[in-house]
Amino acid sequence: MFPDEVVQRCETIRGHYPTPKAAMVPVLQVVQGHKGWLDPESQVWVADFLGVTPMEVHEVVTFYPMLYATPMGKHVIHVCRTLSCDFCGAKELWAHLTGKLGVQRNGTTADGRFTLRAAECLASCGTAPAMLLDGERHEDLDLAKVDELLGAVS
Ligand code: FES
Repeated sequence: MFPDEVVQRCETIRGHYPTPKAAMVPVLQVVQGHKGWLDPESQVWVADFLGVTPMEVHEVVTFYPMLYATPMGKHVIHVCRTLSCDFCGAKELWAHLTGKLGVQRNGTTADGRFTLRAAECLASCGTAPAMLLDGERHEDLDLAKVDELLGAVS
């Protein structure tokens, strides 16, 4: 189902953990990195690979916001919605991004370039507001900086 390189990476990760189940999140990250999201077939593959049930995998996939149970755009934005960011301008960032991209929470732009999601605290409270763009954290944001970041990946 997956190229040898992906399977080998998963096997290496699995070997680093005391039990196969403990390797679930990093294995899912590898699979997601290959496919872009964790479709039902991928979840079943991970379940077989780790010797757990598909439901156990699905519960993990749907619990963590950084794991995607639905297709994502080419670039994924996570805007922090927790207290420090909320006090420091996250609402303005959110309004700017929803207007600029024409999508609401969990929406993907019509051209498939961006998916906009909310995140809980990104551990940048002292430099709020913060967001992730394709998993990379950006802090101390203002609207111009957000536009610059999105322009750089366009
Ligand atoms: S509240 Fe946003 S990074 Fe902590």
